[in-house]
Amino acid sequence: MAMMPIRNYELIILFILLSATVSNAAATSGDRLNISRPLYDGETLISAGGAFELGFFNPDSNSSKRYVGIWYHNAHEVVWVANARNPVAGFSGSLTLTPNGTLVIVDRKNSTDVIIWFSSGPSKSIATATTPIAQLLETGNLVVKSDADAADDETVVYIWQSFDYPSNTILPGMHLGWDLRTGLNRNITSWATLTDPFPGIYTFAIKLGGVPQLIETDGQSLYWRGGPWVGNGFAGTQQGSAYQAFITTSLVMSKEEVAYFFEVNQGFARITIFPDGTTQRLRWQDPPGKWSFFWKTPTDQCDAFSPCGPFGICNADLTPFCSCLPGFRPKNPDRWALTDVSDGCVRNTTLDCSRSGTKGADGFVPMNGVKLPDTSAAVGDLGLGLDDCRVKCSMNCSCTAYSVTNITDGGSGCILWAGELIDIRLLPQSGRDLYVRVAAADLAKIIGSSQSDHKGKRGVATVLPILGSILVGFILISGLIICHYKRKKKIITFHGENGEVISDGNGFDLPLFDFETIADATNNFSVDNRLGEGGFGPVYKGRKKDGSEIAVKRLSKSSMQGISEFKNEIMLIGKLQHRNLVRLLGCCIERQERMLIYEYMPNKSLDTFLFDKTKTKLLNWDMRYRIIVGIARGLLYLHQDSVVRIIHRDLKASNILLDLEMVPKISDFGLARIFAGDEAKSKTKIIAGTYGYMSPEYLMDGFFSAKSDVYSFGVLVLEVLSNQRNSSWQSNNHLVEHAWRLWEEGRALELVDGLTSDSFSIIEVFRCIKVAFLCVQQFPDERPFMSSVILMLTSDKELPEPKCPGFVPCRRHFEVQHSSSENKELGSLNKITLTLPHGR
Ligand SMILES: *[C@@H]1O[C@H](CO)[C@@H](O)[C@H](O)[C@H]1NC(C)=O
Ligand SMILES: *[C@@H]1O[C@H](CO)[C@@H](O)[C@H](O)[C@H]1NC(C)=O
Ligand SMILES: *[C@@H]1O[C@H](CO)[C@@H](O)[C@H](O)[C@H]1NC(C)=O
Ligand SMILES: *[C@@H]1O[C@H](CO)[C@@H](O)[C@H](O)[C@H]1NC(C)=O
Ligand SMILES: *[C@@H]1O[C@H](CO)[C@@H](O)[C@H](O)[C@H]1NC(C)=O
Ligand SMILES: *[C@@H]1O[C@H](CO)[C@@H](O)[C@H](O)[C@H]1NC(C)=O
Ligand SMILES: *[C@@H]1O[C@H](CO)[C@@H](O)[C@H](O)[C@H]1NC(C)=O
Ligand SMILES: *[C@@H]1O[C@H](CO)[C@@H](O)[C@H](O)[C@H]1NC(C)=O
Repeated sequence: MAMMPIRNYELIILFILLSATVSNAAATSGDRLNISRPLYDGETLISAGGAFELGFFNPDSNSSKRYVGIWYHNAHEVVWVANARNPVAGFSGSLTLTPNGTLVIVDRKNSTDVIIWFSSGPSKSIATATTPIAQLLETGNLVVKSDADAADDETVVYIWQSFDYPSNTILPGMHLGWDLRTGLNRNITSWATLTDPFPGIYTFAIKLGGVPQLIETDGQSLYWRGGPWVGNGFAGTQQGSAYQAFITTSLVMSKEEVAYFFEVNQGFARITIFPDGTTQRLRWQDPPGKWSFFWKTPTDQCDAFSPCGPFGICNADLTPFCSCLPGFRPKNPDRWALTDVSDGCVRNTTLDCSRSGTKGADGFVPMNGVKLPDTSAAVGDLGLGLDDCRVKCSMNCSCTAYSVTNITDGGSGCILWAGELIDIRLLPQSGRDLYVRVAAADLAKIIGSSQSDHKGKRGVATVLPILGSILVGFILISGLIICHYKRKKKIITFHGENGEVISDGNGFDLPLFDFETIADATNNFSVDNRLGEGGFGPVYKGRKKDGSEIAVKRLSKSSMQGISEFKNEIMLIGKLQHRNLVRLLGCCIERQERMLIYEYMPNKSLDTFLFDKTKTKLLNWDMRYRIIVGIARGLLYLHQDSVVRIIHRDLKASNILLDLEMVPKISDFGLARIFAGDEAKSKTKIIAGTYGYMSPEYLMDGFFSAKSDVYSFGVLVLEVLSNQRNSSWQSNNHLVEHAWRLWEEGRALELVDGLTSDSFSIIEVFRCIKVAFLCVQQFPDERPFMSSVILMLTSDKELPEPKCPGFVPCRRHFEVQHSSSENKELGSLNKITLTLPHGR
């Protein structure tokens, strides 16, 4: 794998290997299509300057499905597909322009023509006595116009244009958004898969209503919100300023149109939405002659829609990443403590609008550098300055926040929010200032606490930790006094058929299923339903009467604990709520049976992807990175952030399950040890776990602690990077040793050779390798806690240099600073401290 110097003007460089999606077509016929002759499969149109090409193509060489599309003539990548829903089977298709200006794809089979697709849209009738022509413009726009308008003139009114019916890509000059005259909503939708243009679930669009925003939906709900326009981009797009040198972005907002578009002054650029839901702005550079992305979304957990609920604020650098806005507290403190933040926050003190204008009136807390909240119901007021905006908000009792930004290009204005403030995150680089209304009493406290700090100016940063510590106290107390606090059933959306539950007496209920229900759902525990063998018994797939899928773990009788012990333990596990832990839905205790009912994970476990030659190709670097960070977050939750301390003791690839979106979920708590206090350390005589993942102190002496999980995590990271099982090597820790040798020799990137058909960020890969080595250090004290691991993975702080890992034969205490020629190329990125190998 070639090592490229890192360019400092781009945060992340990603190399996208070009997939040969487009078959080389032979004949071409200029850039125009007329009514006298169709374009047959095999022929193409090429735009006048040679930028774009149109013709039939086949994204999957194993399939006979043919599509009409437009792609870059040289930088092969399909940007538009006509008949995405309805491919031609075989080479019998042709693209025809009819005399009335409609483009039609015809499939000629057995001398009969079947219309596969036709260009739809508002019918702009063509003047009689003129003939239409279709032309592929140099912009990548396929237009149909009157023959009389054959000249390339910008004022020509097109009868139809492909730019009005985008596929998965926005090209320079193309408008994303609404043509209010015709009602046309131009949005882009991902392909179903990388080789199937059929529309996938993700759509990138402009949402009208309130103040228009950029949004991405996943078919059912909001997936990501780019927020309102703020002058040079959308409020929630984390873009550096680097792109501004060659790209200008604009929003038109008028009676006729609400649309976003961009222009590029050199080379090619596009915005493409991918089947996994990421949207990237990509740029073609020559050299290196590849696509690189310089803007991408979503990027972290704070980019999910409303990650912290109403009045919550997300900070990706903190763990837990949610807190309440100043002057607010969690609505459900105990659930919040379990990191179920969906209920969000409520005001500490209710507003008192009647005192408006007096000394005790409500005030505003500035939140600097945030993504502005959802503007679906907000009101924009063009031309209003900061002071007027504030007055306008304080005069209206339902106004909860205001902000002043450039709502349109160059036009500054005021945005007023009413009701709940949803989906706020910290965006120090590109965020705006939001002023949140709070009661006078809370305001005094917030100002007081931030002034007592050194830098009162950094309001948000200083207020939040203080609130945090108050919260912790609050949670502890509320945990004690809310015994008869009646919990809404929302937390468990799944009930035992007979409605029975086991309860911990504190409002937490876990549904009890009866044996019949489970037997029914699993087809009487049939072999066909068997998913595999977990640590303590077989796991079955089940389908309940209501159609929902479950995974049933039937504990083998030999491993049985007493009923009360079993109940205690599953109550604790049932209370764990985290995006990266598999959810326990209930249990069944009947007829000598103990069964655990979990949510079903359609993508099975991580090992089925990593160690399978075909499936491993489905895991691109970005997914891998997200999986690594996800596992880290799940583990941190177990170690530190849940109500109890939990050491998992059996973290490994087969215990990481993947949901439909490939979000990793830690599962199998069969060996987990739960600690009530802070003393989460123990010694055992029975060493249970999996060879290859066990830390030296655990394997040799039976000592386990959070740090032994950290060790397993390190091994897991190396496996995710290399597609290799640590234990499949002759000696159990050979992968660690192999990786360490590569690292020492400055060839660490060879570890990820399995990712060659993939794109990845060298910086992220190096960071992960280094973190993995820090996690597999020989001595527990030398390994970081999971909280540091997450910071190391997600920030760009310099990392400590790892020493020789545990189990790897090295001569210790003798280290030299060394830099090989490759290291120089990577500059300061990779200051490798080499440990001299033990005489080999
Ligand atoms: C229509 O296009 C074909 C192929 O490009 C060309 O040979 C023919 O002369 C064109 N006919 C007219 C009327 O322009
Ligand atoms: C096409 O099918 C063959 C045989 O089934 C398989 O080996 C190959 O990987 C497939 N190619 C693609 C691009 O799917
Ligand atoms: C244009 O012609 C095609 C076929 O000749 C026909 O199917 C279609 O309905 C016509 N469209 C309009 C808008 O007249
Ligand atoms: C084409 O015609 C032949 C003979 O008439 C028939 O056997 C065959 O099934 C037809 N194929 C299709 C695709 O209709
Ligand atoms: C995308 O555009 C299509 C066609 O105009 C429309 O039906 C759909 O609702 C739009 N989706 C979104 C999320 O705006
Ligand atoms: C919330 O209000 C109560 C009573 O007014 C006060 O004791 C507490 O400190 C406040 N908490 C916060 C976070 O402002
Ligand atoms: C106050 O704000 C709400 C919500 O934005 C709005 O519906 C209402 O008309 C406003 N009232 C006044 C008097 O401006
Ligand atoms: C915002 O608008 C003002 C004029 O109202 C203009 O001077 C300023 O450059 C604009 N800022 C951005 C970022 O567009």
